[in-house]
Amino acid sequence: MKVISIINQKGGIGKTTTAINLSACLAELEQRVLLIDMDSQANATIGLDIDPTRRKKTVYDLLINEETAFDDVRCKTILDRLDILPGHMNLAGCDVQLSQSANRPYRLGNALRQVNGEYDYTIIDCPPSLGVLSLNALLASSDIIIPTEAKYYATKGFDMLNNMITTIFQQLGHRINLMGILITLFDKRTTLNRIFYDQIREYFGDKVFRTLIPRNISLSEAELYRKPIIKYAANSTGAKHYRHLAIEVLFHE
Ligand SMILES: Nc1ncnc2c1ncn2[C@@H]1O[C@H](COP(=O)(O)OP(=O)(O)O)[C@@H](O)[C@H]1O
Ligand SMILES: [Mg+2]
Repeated sequence: MKVISIINQKGGIGKTTTAINLSACLAELEQRVLLIDMDSQANATIGLDIDPTRRKKTVYDLLINEETAFDDVRCKTILDRLDILPGHMNLAGCDVQLSQSANRPYRLGNALRQVNGEYDYTIIDCPPSLGVLSLNALLASSDIIIPTEAKYYATKGFDMLNNMITTIFQQLGHRINLMGILITLFDKRTTLNRIFYDQIREYFGDKVFRTLIPRNISLSEAELYRKPIIKYAANSTGAKHYRHLAIEVLFHE
C-alpha cells in the first residue's frame, strides 16, 4: 500500500481539492482507496458530503485514544472503492492534547496497521501547518505530493518542509519519497504562471508532475455540491486533469 500525504504549509493552494479528486480518480481506476482528513477544517470530509458533527468518532478519536476501533471511524463515500476517515474541528486541539503522550507522532501510523492490505492507496489531506498532525501524517507516509500555485513566493515554504523530511529521516529513521510537485490553480493565459512553470521544471526536473491542474470553475462548484469532480462534471477540464494525475500516480515507479 502506498500512503501519500498531500502537504504544503500554505493554505488555499488546492491540497484538499487534490486529496478528494486524486482519491476519487484512483478509485475510478479500480484502486481501493482510503482518504484521511487530518485538517480541523474537515473540508475533505464535507466535500464528500459527510457531516463531521454527525459522526460518533473521527480521526480525532483515533489519534487521542489508541483503543479506538478503526471501523467506528471509517465510513463509505458515494464512490464504491473510496472510504474516508473523517476529520473534525477537534483536531485543532491535538497539538496541545497530545503533547504529553507517548508515541504521539506514531498514532496515525499505528492505527493504519489495523487495515493493512485492505487498500491500494491511502491519501492524507494535511492541515496548512507543520505540527503534530502533519508529523503523524508524514510518519505514516511512504510518499508526499506537494501542491503549489505557479507563483514565485509559493515555493518559499518548501525549505521548511524539506527540513522536516530530512529531520524525520535522520532522527526517526523514516524515509519519505517526494513523489512530485503538483502545479495547481494554473492559468495558461497568465505569463507569470508560464514563466514560473518553466523555472520550477528547470529546478526540480522530473519531480514536477507532467499534469498541471488548471484553474477551473467546475472544481470549486464540485466542492460546493459536495462531490468529487468526476461525479459533478465528468467531462470538465478539471476532471480530465485529475484523471491524468491519477494515471501518473498509478504508474509512478
Ligand atoms: N484548480 C482549481 N480551480 C478552481 N478552484 C480551485 C481549484 N483548486 C482549488 N480550488 C478552490 O480554491 C479553494 C482552496 O482550495 P483547497 O483545495 O481547499 O486548498 P487547501 O486545502 O490547500 O487550503 C477552494 O474553494 C477550492 O474549491
Ligand atoms: Mg485544505
